[in-house]
Amino acid sequence: MSILPAHWTPLLSTHALGRAINHYEHTLTSTNTVLKELARQGAPHGSLCLCECQTAGRGRLDRVWASPEGQGIWMSVLLRPALRAEDAPLITFACALAMAQAIKEVTALDARIKWPNDLVLQGRKLCGILLEMGFDAQGLFVVAGTGLNIRRGAYPPELSDRATSLEEHATLPDRGEIIAAYLRALEDAVAAIEAEGFAGIAPLYRARSVTLGSRVHVSGAVDLTGTAEDINSSGALLVRTEDGTLHSVMAGDVSVRGVMGYV
Ligand code: BTN
Repeated sequence: MSILPAHWTPLLSTHALGRAINHYEHTLTSTNTVLKELARQGAPHGSLCLCECQTAGRGRLDRVWASPEGQGIWMSVLLRPALRAEDAPLITFACALAMAQAIKEVTALDARIKWPNDLVLQGRKLCGILLEMGFDAQGLFVVAGTGLNIRRGAYPPELSDRATSLEEHATLPDRGEIIAAYLRALEDAVAAIEAEGFAGIAPLYRARSVTLGSRVHVSGAVDLTGTAEDINSSGALLVRTEDGTLHSVMAGDVSVRGVMGYV
């Protein structure tokens, strides 16, 4: 169950991811915050930051991300991808796909992806991803943070109708095995995006989507309800409303009927 690098680095089969720095500390504010600072100090592509417990874990849309001691995998990977800045957000899809593949490999569970990057199991959220981008002396960098609920205690009890953890569905997995499998899958998915854009991972991503073909409600910059039909090459969700208009949604909060409490 350990996330100590000495435990899982022998399982690594990546070229760069997880090899540069395995910045492990017991308690950190936020692995994303710490890794962004390390990036600005020149940390190389593939650097990894992970911890047992975050005191200031952050989620998307400025939300707090609970990260209690030993209950999950709280980690961030630094990428310096060969991508234009406008294409870098596509990495979010690579992260979601890679974590779904890693979970399948280690636990045999089929986690589905709620656009853009939440992983859900039986309609409840299992994993969230926070992508942050910046520029430093080496150019564009992306910090991809992943919070995977392993034990029930990972999320506050009041979220139990919307959140879940791996131990509720499978034998308690070895966190080190999941980290190693995720880094390998992520390295492949990022390479596919560098070569072909979203098209490089689209078939694998679509096959795991819980959003496509479902009724969705979008709130934020736009507010609409319709059917999610596809994802375009920029990663935008294409939603058809009842009047037949096809809307391209780039950002916002998307609720999917039957998922995380949306009926
Ligand atoms: C979400 O809102 O769904 C994204 C949650 C991302 C949480 C992870 S935990 C590791 C990394 N460090 C953070 O502060 N956030 C991300």
